[in-house]
Amino acid sequence: MASQSRSALMAALRPTAATLPTSGISTVFAHGLGKPGLIPLWAGEGDMPTPAFISEAASKALLGGETFYTYQRGLPRLREALAAYHARHYKRAFSPDNFFVTGGGMQAIQLAFQMTVGTGDEVLVPTPSWPNFRGAVETTGAKTVSVPMRLERDGWVLDLDRLFAAVTPRTRAIVINSPANPSGWTASQRDLAAILDFTRKHGLWIIADEIYGQFYFGGGRAQSMLAPSLQHLIEADDRVLFAQTFSKNWAMTGWRIGWLQAPVALASTIENHVQYNTSGVAAFMQRGAIAALDEGDAFLRTQVVRARQGMDIVTKALAPLNSVRYVAPAGAFYAFFGIDGMTDSLTAALRLIDEANVGLAPGTAFGEGAEPYFRVCFLRSPEQLNEAMQRLSRWIVTQHS
Ligand SMILES: Cc1ncc(COP(=O)(O)O)c(C=O)c1O
Repeated sequence: MASQSRSALMAALRPTAATLPTSGISTVFAHGLGKPGLIPLWAGEGDMPTPAFISEAASKALLGGETFYTYQRGLPRLREALAAYHARHYKRAFSPDNFFVTGGGMQAIQLAFQMTVGTGDEVLVPTPSWPNFRGAVETTGAKTVSVPMRLERDGWVLDLDRLFAAVTPRTRAIVINSPANPSGWTASQRDLAAILDFTRKHGLWIIADEIYGQFYFGGGRAQSMLAPSLQHLIEADDRVLFAQTFSKNWAMTGWRIGWLQAPVALASTIENHVQYNTSGVAAFMQRGAIAALDEGDAFLRTQVVRARQGMDIVTKALAPLNSVRYVAPAGAFYAFFGIDGMTDSLTAALRLIDEANVGLAPGTAFGEGAEPYFRVCFLRSPEQLNEAMQRLSRWIVTQHS
């Protein structure tokens, strides 16, 4: 009876709603959650809470009565702080009118797709990729077309000829997530220029996800250094929408606040979309976000140093293992590696929980070509990470002895 009514209800939904993919990490999460002594490295977040100066700014605003409806685009003061943050880091001028406050990076992505694609359209997504791109595209009725990258001696490579060859008359947008989750692939400035040039010629949108742009190790230095960016290349009317977030830079994953950066000409359209999706982000949270932008550069630097240390710990553990295919990532805060002889990463990740008490995200969550790989989040305390990597290395070695 229950299952019959479920199938009747499902059949009554819009087809794209019923067929949305389930997150590929949830099986592992459900298997490991609450297991005593387990070290979970499966999530895309660090282990530090939001710094007090940010939480205090939000609490003060909440207690001070900032509990009413507010601007759809975001507080003017926050949009000014966003323009100043971008100008400071990217060394060019930005207008507050380029910025729209959203419910996390995820909602910025959702809005970007809602405005650019729909039923019958195609969106190119280089894989391995964060699964939410596909999920967000499919909620609109459009389809993603995967463009698999390959792991070479120096890291993951996106073949631009292959990317451009995947364009069909139905293609409307290309997702460029650089530095990438989960692979750490980071586009060069030259690649970004070629992609922008191509999209200009073909009238395509770029959905640019540079949320890990501050976590860049390509230059080899531990201090904050920005990854190559489309920000240096875009003109006012380019068809580029940036999804951004407070989540990673300032340890604010649970807040659900981010921003969309778009051409000023789209302002009222974006405002309408915010109105009909969420009607804006809580004003008191925006006060916390202002503190993050105005006073958070030092905390951001500590996050980047911590990620760099984490990467070194993971690299030291994985690089000597002959059976492991791993190249240290150029950016973001994930190690993405394969183990010889293991093609089903989901089964292996479940075994790793039972046998080594370490939780990893299986590559099966990250799309075409990612199935045999595993993702480790290394924005964690050195003690915890060292212990987890020892457990993981021992487990890998026993599989091959
Ligand atoms: C590539 C990428 N984009 C966007 C997001 C979304 O971040 P949030 O919705 O937490 O702001 C994430 C989170 O893991 C991500 O990895």
